[in-house]
Amino acid sequence: MGAKNSALKLMAVALLAEGRTTLTNVPAIADVTIMAELLRRLGVGVDYVPEENRVVLDVPATIGHRADYELVRALRASISVLGPLVARTGQADVAVPGGDAIGSRGLDLHAAALESLGARVHVTHGYLVAEAPDGLRGAGIRLDFPSVGATENALTASVLARGTTTIDNVAKEPEIIDIATMLTSMGARIEGAGTSRIVVHGVESLSPTEHAVVPDRIAAGTWAFAAATTRGDVEVVGGVADHLRVPLGMLADAGCTVESTDRGFRVAVRDGRPRSFDVATLPYPGFPTDLQPFALAYNVVADGSAMVTENLFEARFRTVQELARLGAEAQIDGHHVMTHGVPLLSGAPVESSDIRSGAALVIAGLVAEGDTLVSGVHHIDRGYPRFEVALRALGADVTREPDDAPDFE
Ligand code: EPU
Repeated sequence: MGAKNSALKLMAVALLAEGRTTLTNVPAIADVTIMAELLRRLGVGVDYVPEENRVVLDVPATIGHRADYELVRALRASISVLGPLVARTGQADVAVPGGDAIGSRGLDLHAAALESLGARVHVTHGYLVAEAPDGLRGAGIRLDFPSVGATENALTASVLARGTTTIDNVAKEPEIIDIATMLTSMGARIEGAGTSRIVVHGVESLSPTEHAVVPDRIAAGTWAFAAATTRGDVEVVGGVADHLRVPLGMLADAGCTVESTDRGFRVAVRDGRPRSFDVATLPYPGFPTDLQPFALAYNVVADGSAMVTENLFEARFRTVQELARLGAEAQIDGHHVMTHGVPLLSGAPVESSDIRSGAALVIAGLVAEGDTLVSGVHHIDRGYPRFEVALRALGADVTREPDDAPDFE
């Protein structure tokens, strides 16, 4: 399936060109529905067909410039309209999303990048307002931290700026390369995506395009950890092992079988109980913070003691208390968690606080004796299409409570 964290941004990228843009390999998840609504309110015609994994966007000559709080608070990725709106209309009013379950998540780097390009940026009545009535101009930008979101907004703002923009210390995620690839197919001139420095030569205008979303490395990594944690055997069809070099390497070193297949890659546990391992989250290509809750669920049932360190978000440890309810031995110490693996957890009601923690708790429930009831599954629907159906197809005993239908239906 296509990456959530690319598809949402590519929908915003479409704003940069008048006309009809088609995205394929779009995941059937609730977040795409929210982004579709946000774009509709900007005047874009959006046809989202989840069963066909396609979004068709008809972008008019004149678009709005306001992203309402109601939608932005439901979908933080809404902030990705900031760059395209300023570039295209000279003005963006995007609600400030506020903190969430994983951290405070500031926007200072986004604002600084736009200011470097000549926009006037201020926060008024809860909205981040960026104004550049005479257009943006190329500049040198250096991000203090390789933020994914700030890299994206700096890139999408600069493609229509006058002159050349150099952006240093940028994020190198495959999703950044995906955005640059789509922008290039629209006529943008970009060099260096996937490295620490991106150079953009501004162009007058862009044309609509058709683009297939890059495969979801976090979903693929989720299945890898699901296989390792349950001591199962899963082939991740369409998974790109190269985008998961660090986590897959760690699983292999810990005693799991990790192999490439014609269709993707496979993770299996063939003998006994794999070993736990230390994890420290880092920007790509380091261990992804989005897989950290899965590393925790794995370590609490793997053999031995280990330490998980979260370096990107200050509050991304809500999974720990819930895993403790399942009998896990895990203690938080600042931005570290010490785990000591036990062979089997013990089923209990637990609550998911975000997409990844929810999915990780379901996986933990599969290695818990008795029933585990995970509440807050709407979080899981934000990132995984029919998670329980896919798990059942692998032989897992998982059902969805009848009154808990996915949001996008
Ligand atoms: N940060 C700032 N100021 C900024 C920007 C970021 O302080 O101006 C801080 C954040 O508060 C955070 C850190 O920098 O502590 C990293 O944030 P980054 O901007 O890199 O992350 P993001 O763009 O907000 C995306 C993904 C997250 C993923 C992170 C890191 C999307 C929609 N979200 O968030 O994915 O964890 O990159 O890889 O692309 C998820 O899918 O579950 C998810 C949370």
